[in-house]
Amino acid sequence: MKLRQYASIFLVGPMASGKTTLGKLLAKRLGLQFLDTDHEIEKTTGVSVRLIFEVEGEPAFRDRESKTLETLSHQPGLVLATGGGAVLRLENRQALATRGLVIYLKPDIETQLKRTADDRKRPLLQNVDRRAFFQELQRTRDPLYQEVADVTVSVDNRPGKKMIEAVLARLQRQEWITAE
Ligand code: S3P
Repeated sequence: MKLRQYASIFLVGPMASGKTTLGKLLAKRLGLQFLDTDHEIEKTTGVSVRLIFEVEGEPAFRDRESKTLETLSHQPGLVLATGGGAVLRLENRQALATRGLVIYLKPDIETQLKRTADDRKRPLLQNVDRRAFFQELQRTRDPLYQEVADVTVSVDNRPGKKMIEAVLARLQRQEWITAE
């Protein structure tokens, strides 16, 4: 299978929408390289996203995120997973919307809750009422994901291998990818 029109795919969506799992599977099927902005930030700084939030604060993390996105969004041949908050800044939304095929993975809240039940790593999820928090994030960020997305795919708790078939079928139907 081959990607048409764009040189790379960008995955957007909230925490626990399956950007990493589905991104890796998608990259494999399309012969592209998988990268993740959070992981790239952790590689260059040598510390976790959680520690960056703790020591430098969220705005400094967002600066690092924008810089990483600015660089990687120019790189061809990628499936790039972005952090859930990457769409907050206009400059990021413009980079995403103009430089690649943007897929919005839209999970239901039950799926997000299930997948993050044991999460101790994501800074924004610690010490909050997760259900209310996910609802609030959906309310404020869904329009931003929609704004940049070429394709929106609903995601539920199906295993990645099943979900990826639904994603690929959708991309093929809309002719973003070709069969050969
Ligand atoms: C964030 C999502 C995280 C990470 C950071 C902030 C957010 O990425 O970038 O903790 O604001 O939603 P994932 O969506 O990969 O969990």
